[in-house]
Parts: sequence; structure tokens; C-alpha cells
Amino acid sequence: MTEADGHFTHHAQPFAFGPVELHGLEVFLAEPLGPFRPPAEGGGGVGNCLACHPPPDFTDHGFHTTGASQEGYDAVHGAGAFLALPVPDLAARRASLDTFLPASAAHPDGSGRFRALPEAADAARADLGLWNVFANPDVPAPQAALLDVLCPEVAQPACTAAALLPRTLARFKTPGLRDLDDSAPYLHDGSAPDVGAVLAQYQQVSDLQRAGALRNGDGRLAGVNLGPGRNPGPGSLPARPGGGLPVGPPGAVGPGVSAWGWASSARPGAPWPSSPRRCPGSA
Ligand code: HEC
Repeated sequence: MTEADGHFTHHAQPFAFGPVELHGLEVFLAEPLGPFRPPAEGGGGVGNCLACHPPPDFTDHGFHTTGASQEGYDAVHGAGAFLALPVPDLAARRASLDTFLPASAAHPDGSGRFRALPEAADAARADLGLWNVFANPDVPAPQAALLDVLCPEVAQPACTAAALLPRTLARFKTPGLRDLDDSAPYLHDGSAPDVGAVLAQYQQVSDLQRAGALRNGDGRLAGVNLGPGRNPGPGSLPARPGGGLPVGPPGAVGPGVSAWGWASSARPGAPWPSSPRRCPGSA
């Protein structure tokens, strides 16, 4: 590795991918090549991370629902609660901006209840991310750009603010993953203390997405299969003793990400942890 490679321009230290980091990169880059096969049947080893975190910045600069809001809400209110959370449509939101939208200069009494951390005492509080911004008359600047991003997802006649609003529910901007090791905690609410927690969440929400139980979930998540195993189909990765992605410790998940955490906390080449770590409070 040299500076000319474009990697690691900020770390003045020698660097080369070890076997753990290299396998993490393989999983990060692996796309689903065949029908989903559960880890119990030998499937796995597919990050599909590239679908939303493409190089060079490892972000598509888009907005996706990847489940952090639902996981956080359900951890407080019980499994399935986020699916049942009542959310107004555009007309109902317009009729009562203070009730539903965050405070602004024009609406200083805005409750912000949908841009809030979940609370046991108030089930109306949740974080719906982009929903708070899209078609919000008090945030005019990004609206045209948001329409550019969202409209291609629906048929043109359906590209109205009323039709798009539900599609913004719990979406967040894809963060870049460069220098990830220096930016913990992760996710929009800081709920993931380390990369292992992020991966455990992807494992869970991809199961939810496949079960049709992730509210407004991004279809790309159905291709995430982090269990031990390998990608079926042509061009799949060579088998590696022990199987899939190291979900537990902060390890190599991507191009250079968290390589330092792994290097300092585990021996490169050590056996992969076999059981995935679960987020506290999740099933
Ligand atoms: C459907 C698009 C999508 C896919 C697929 C996806 N991500 Fe993400 N990723 C996101 C979005 C959006 C966020 C922000 C979520 C939030 O803040 O709640 C995110 C956040 C993250 C973060 C937290 C970064 C930070 O600074 O907080 C990490 C790490 C991450 N993703 C790694 C991965 C890995 C590894 C994979 C593959 C296993 C992956 N992502 C697959 C869209 C995606």
C-alpha cells in the first residue's frame, strides 16, 4: 500500500490487509448471486454493502430505511410496535404541523415527536428521519433535490408529495465509511457502540426485510446474508475455513475500516466467532 493507491491518506503507518481484513472486504463486496439460502443451509458471506456504500466514499449519497429506528422503537415498546405506530399522511400532517413536525422559526411549538428517541412513557415519540424534512414547508431548500432523488423510485404520475411522504419514513442518509474507526458510536442515534453492533443489526433487519416485517425497509437489505457460509452461484467467493463474516468484534468490514480495532483486539487469522452478537434488548 502506498499513498498512490488512494487508501489511508490520513494514517502515517504501514498498512496491508491481513487475512481477516481481506475476508471482510470480500464479504463487503459480495453481492447476492442466487436465491437466498439461510446460514443453516450453508448460505451467507454476502454483505451486499456495496449496494449502498459504493467507493470511493462508500456512500451512494442516498436515503434508505435500514431499520435502526424500528429496532430502537421496538426495543422500548416491544417487537412489532413500530409496525403499528400511527403516522399521519400528508394531508393530516399539513393540518397540524405543530403536532407532528419539529419546531422551526415559523412553528416554534412543533413537537418534534417524530424526530425523537423512543421513550417508554410516550409511545408517540419515534425517529422517522427524512419524513420530518420531506415536504416540510419550513425546510424549503432541499425539497427540489429530494424530489430528484425520490421521484425515479415511483411511476411519474405517482410522483406527488402525498405519494412520496410514506416512502420517506425512517429513511436516513447513507454515511460514508471512510475512517470509520475514528467515528464511533454509529448510526443516526449513536445506538451502535462498535462496528460489530452495526453488523448484528444488519443481520437482524435483513431477516425482518425478508419476512416483510421491516417498515418501509429497503429492498436491498433482503440480499444481506451475513451468516457463516458462502455466496451461492457463479463467481462466488472461494470457501474459507470457518465460514462468514466476523460479526462479534470490531473487525474488517470494508476497505480499511476498523482494521486497527481488529489488529489491536484480536489475532489476524484467529478463528471466526461462530455466534453473532445481538444488540441488547433485541430478540
Ligand atoms: C439499503 C442500503 C444499505 C445497505 C445494503 C447497507 N447499508 Fe450501511 N448504512 C445505510 C444507511 C442509510 C445508514 C445510516 C443508518 C442510520 O443512521 O440509521 C448506514 C449506516 C452504516 C454504518 C454506520 C456508519 C456511521 O458512521 O454511523 C455502517 C458501519 C454501515 N452502514 C456498514 C454497512 C455494511 C458493513 C453493510 C453490509 C453488510 C451495509 N452497511 C449495508 C445504508 C445501507
